[in-house]
Amino acid sequence: MSSTVPDLAALHALGAAQQPTYPDADAVAANVARLRTMPPLVFAGECDDLKAKMAAVSRGEAFLLQGGDCAETFAEVTADNVRNKLRVLLQMAVILTYAGSVPVVKLGRLAGQYAKPRSSDMETRDGVTLPAYRGDAVNGFDFTPESRIPDPTRLLDVYNASAATLNLVRAFVTGGYADLRQVHTWNTDFVRTSVAGQRYEALAGEIDKALGFMDAIGVDADELKRVDFHSSHEALLLEYEHAMTRIDSRTEKPYNVSGHFVWIGERTRQLDGAHVEYFRHIANPIGCKLGPSASADDAIALAEKLNPDNEEGRLTFITRFGAGKIRDGLPHLVEKVTAAGIKVAWVCDPMHGNTFESSTGYKTRRFDDVIDEVQGFFDVHRALGTWPGGVLVEMTGDDVTECIGGGEEIDEAGLAHRYESVVDPRLNRVQSLELAFLVAEMLRATTA
Ligand code: PEP
Ligand code: CO
Repeated sequence: MSSTVPDLAALHALGAAQQPTYPDADAVAANVARLRTMPPLVFAGECDDLKAKMAAVSRGEAFLLQGGDCAETFAEVTADNVRNKLRVLLQMAVILTYAGSVPVVKLGRLAGQYAKPRSSDMETRDGVTLPAYRGDAVNGFDFTPESRIPDPTRLLDVYNASAATLNLVRAFVTGGYADLRQVHTWNTDFVRTSVAGQRYEALAGEIDKALGFMDAIGVDADELKRVDFHSSHEALLLEYEHAMTRIDSRTEKPYNVSGHFVWIGERTRQLDGAHVEYFRHIANPIGCKLGPSASADDAIALAEKLNPDNEEGRLTFITRFGAGKIRDGLPHLVEKVTAAGIKVAWVCDPMHGNTFESSTGYKTRRFDDVIDEVQGFFDVHRALGTWPGGVLVEMTGDDVTECIGGGEEIDEAGLAHRYESVVDPRLNRVQSLELAFLVAEMLRATTA
């Protein structure tokens, strides 16, 4: 790993994919300069802690739960929204830990997830064509010419929104809210009335009993009172990510200090592209998405470039094949990467290969397809003797209706009831708990 990251111009010279076209270069430079003076949002040492946890995942000793919105928005940086999301993630983690009997690494897809790659630069509605929405980091969601112009002052808004979110998350996870004794209070009335909520309630009762027993014998473990929770996002916008990269005084290595874990998306993982070049130089634990078009040779070349020392915990491959393709496509990839001696954590993103448009015009996913892809992921790893290291899910703490199916049996017509996502459809609270119970069963079958 080199000690300096190439400058922004050198990265852009590589033809960076998925970047906004800002109308005013001076305004971009001014905002980047300001960002470079801002304090880090995370510490390099915390990134190292997470890397050690990801090393345990790659060795088959822990399971990663990574979740949050497809795209955060500035408007949703509220106490309720952050708490609701965190609450469901904590519930999911408890289900996986207790019912799946494995240590769970908890990673929020939050506090920085504001920039989106898009399949098309432009969007047309009723004959009007405007630049596509690229996330609150770039432009506004409103379909007006003014709102869709890329605005570099939003880069500072991302910093501030991320800081506020992370501050709240840190307070929640260390300030008593995440104490395992709260396991019942995370189950809100709404959820409790669902089948998944009742199942959770029963599990929480068992945990209570176990805690009572530990109390009785005098165990007072700190681990029960707080959780380790880290942040992650797709490091897409070079201006932002580069400005938030600092040399760590202990190690003299560059770290991206805007999030603990950052990943490269499916559309920006070109081997000679700007993103891979940037990621090669930072010392954070990193991920790289791999879709059905990724060959085993692509994956091996990426690993050699992104993790030349084959350091455990450094690199995670996040596969996103789609339920219909994973059983055919994944085995070859895992087999060849494993045979090459590459140390990597394998994580399943069961969301991005399963998106379609409903007859009612909503971008959606079927809960059953999501589960089927995770099951395929477990089956493939089981057959190869490799470890299914975790899941990345797009979820929210609210009772939205964006994905079809699940115990509440949301159908195509039902999507209209409460569809709020600005980009991809998310699992709601109940669907998230259902997924956690199903994945816990898969984990049990794997470790049995
Ligand atoms: C995402 O995770 O929201 C995303 C855009 O995924 P991918 O890069 O796999 O398409
Ligand atoms: Co998405």
